[in-house]
Amino acid sequence: MAPSSVPIHGNYHGYYAKRPSVNDPRLELLPSSTFSDKRVLDVGCNEGWVSCEIAQSHGASKVVGVDIDDTLVRGAWRRRRTVWSAQGPPQGSDTAPDATGTSRKRKRVDSVGEADYFPASCAHSLGPLPIPLSNPQLFPHNVSFRTADWVNEPIPEDEGGYDVVLAFSITKWIHLNGGDAALKAFFSRVAAVLPPGGQFIVEPQAWETYRKAKRMDRRLRDMAQGLKLRPEDFPRLLASIGFGEPVRLGSVGDGGFHRPVDLYTRV
Ligand SMILES: C[S@@+](CC[C@H](N)C(=O)[O-])C[C@H]1O[C@@H](n2cnc3c(N)ncnc32)[C@H](O)[C@@H]1O
Repeated sequence: MAPSSVPIHGNYHGYYAKRPSVNDPRLELLPSSTFSDKRVLDVGCNEGWVSCEIAQSHGASKVVGVDIDDTLVRGAWRRRRTVWSAQGPPQGSDTAPDATGTSRKRKRVDSVGEADYFPASCAHSLGPLPIPLSNPQLFPHNVSFRTADWVNEPIPEDEGGYDVVLAFSITKWIHLNGGDAALKAFFSRVAAVLPPGGQFIVEPQAWETYRKAKRMDRRLRDMAQGLKLRPEDFPRLLASIGFGEPVRLGSVGDGGFHRPVDLYTRV
């Protein structure tokens, strides 16, 4: 992406200084098993805070974060290292004897150390911890990042497909940059990488919020004039592409970040 001083893709730097980002409240709306052993694509991952949280604390087997802005993607790799450096030692192995002396399978979370165990000052003063070779399905090996305009450029990981695709606070930016056609292309690409039963989790921005974005840039303003689709049309559009009725999981976030989170299932 050509560097621009105006974040016309919603490619805000320092985004997670503005919205609560550790124990992200949007993730707390989801059923607890949403990411367990799942392959997840986080479209518009920004600096990777949500991707890292899903990979570390929600049991995903693989998380791929993709963002159009390479500087943000480099920040996401740094975030992965920071989160790893704050993680505590593993609390147990995958199998451990119970009181009867028989081995039983422990919940995998036990073999991942506690998040935020070491204070951030440790990595700050001593440098980040090295990442040892270990289970590829455990944090931090289970999360990686790519730079791409995912609406128009496939990434190698797409070939294997995903079980869950996340689109938090990105539909407005795809819509304003590429019009109704880009939004349809985006939803069709999501349908193409999900098997039946796969889940698409969307946090759409309300139409009223497009107004401020249009003021950012003349091209966005011109594009906005030709838009026919509205966020209220997304369920109908997604139904025509192969998704069931959405389940509205709730709305969270403070001030301008108060938005709904919708869950669609691929039929
Ligand atoms: C407002 S931020 C939301 C970040 C994150 N999803 C969250 O809600 O915590 C939108 C992100 O989408 C990215 N983005 C916009 N259009 C994109 C595209 N076509 N492909 C990949 N990333 C895109 C931006 O660079 C930005 O980081």
